[in-house]
Amino acid sequence: MSGRTNGGTARLETAGGTSVDLPVLKGTLGPDVIDIRKLYAGTGLFTYDPGFTSTAACSSTITFIDGDEGVLLHRGYSIEELAQQSDYLEVCYLILNGELPTSAQKAKFVHDITYHTMVHDQIQYLFRGFRRDAHPMAVMIAVVGALSAFYYEDLDVDDPHNRMVATHRLIAKIPTIAAMAYKYSIGQPFVYPRNDLDYASNFLNMMFSVPCEPYRLNAVMAKALDRIFILHADHEQNASTSTVRLVGSTGASPYAAIAAGIASLWGPAHGGANEAVLTMLREIGSPSNIKDFLAKVKDKDSHQRLMGFGHRVYRNYDPRAAVLKESADAVLAELGRRENPLLDIARELETIALNDDYFIKRKLFPNVDFYSGIILEAMGIPSKMFTAIFALARTVGWIAQWNEMIEDPEQKIGRPRQLYTGPARRTFVPLDQRG
Ligand code: ACO
Repeated sequence: MSGRTNGGTARLETAGGTSVDLPVLKGTLGPDVIDIRKLYAGTGLFTYDPGFTSTAACSSTITFIDGDEGVLLHRGYSIEELAQQSDYLEVCYLILNGELPTSAQKAKFVHDITYHTMVHDQIQYLFRGFRRDAHPMAVMIAVVGALSAFYYEDLDVDDPHNRMVATHRLIAKIPTIAAMAYKYSIGQPFVYPRNDLDYASNFLNMMFSVPCEPYRLNAVMAKALDRIFILHADHEQNASTSTVRLVGSTGASPYAAIAAGIASLWGPAHGGANEAVLTMLREIGSPSNIKDFLAKVKDKDSHQRLMGFGHRVYRNYDPRAAVLKESADAVLAELGRRENPLLDIARELETIALNDDYFIKRKLFPNVDFYSGIILEAMGIPSKMFTAIFALARTVGWIAQWNEMIEDPEQKIGRPRQLYTGPARRTFVPLDQRG
């Protein structure tokens, strides 16, 4: 991988007296890593790292995060600059190809995505098998996974052309599938994509238009949604991305790998947090209840977490939360929702938490989910759809990381080891002899 250089060696000495010199690899930015691939051969030892908190599972050129400083870069460009000066499909191109597109490259990419947005007509029948009250993420896992049954020619993942077509299809069709999941849940007819609209406007139109009257698109809403898409586009080796890489490492269909990523994202500790933030703010109900709520959060026995706070990597303000906090005001003002009781609670909650010893000591700051839900809610998007929108936006990151993994000559099937703590070998006891 480019940018990787020799950083010397690190010596590991075991209590048993063996020692091994392990290479240290230097990236472009961030901590050096000890290359432990030869550790077992040299010492007979594995490493133990539940949750992979100290393990780099791959090298990557796509995204860089400095969690202590609150920095997020895609291909070297800061998330703040991308959110302010770019648009989602341009960021997709950058994440996929490594460079910002020229005008001609951008026009071609936008065309390629726009002209892949329709799904096979048979897919609507898959939706009809679900209960109307099914969670949209459950439906998306199934329908995106089912794409592998429609596009079986993409199964040659070693063919770059096949991979590119799968990449375009996924980025193009995910909004259609997410909007179909919503329409199905409210009993309205599916709305076909419109090729004259930009990516975010097309999604809004598929979500909110109905056949009996024209839908008036709001440019401010489309812009705000596009920004939310940018802020969620990639985030290096998080749980869902690692899931996609792990599934993809077996040579599985990219559609199946992305479906697995959606499943991983659904959990409340990951992408499901934006929905959980809204539920939490509603439960708090009024700024006067914040003190009692925070007391519960700090009580170890309550298992209540302050949703939208804390992050495995950021020990500082999540830069995406900072961008969203800024847009929350602008969006709510534009949409005529200047008075928003949930935003008032969120702001006060944030101020109190940021000055509270419990959160200061643990370096817990607002993450991207803290403000995204409030903006989406103001747009009329129901909270059940929040994580589906996150999945929609993250698809580019997942597929870019999947492509990078397949092209990486060092890539192997993902297969962690374990520290076995179960019974040692013992003899089987027949049923009639067991006491
Ligand atoms: N509220 C209260 N306490 C918290 C929170 C929180 N949101 N997050 C962490 N803590 C506390 C833990 O109780 C622990 O305290 P202790 O040292 O006294 O035991 C300490 O901070 C460290 O917590 P860990 O769980 O070890 O931190 P980890 O890095 O594993 O967790 C996570 C990160 C899962 C994101 C956690 O902060 C959390 O659950 N946050 C709320 C859910 C959320 O907002 N998730 C979205 C993440 S962003 C994303 O996926 C896009």
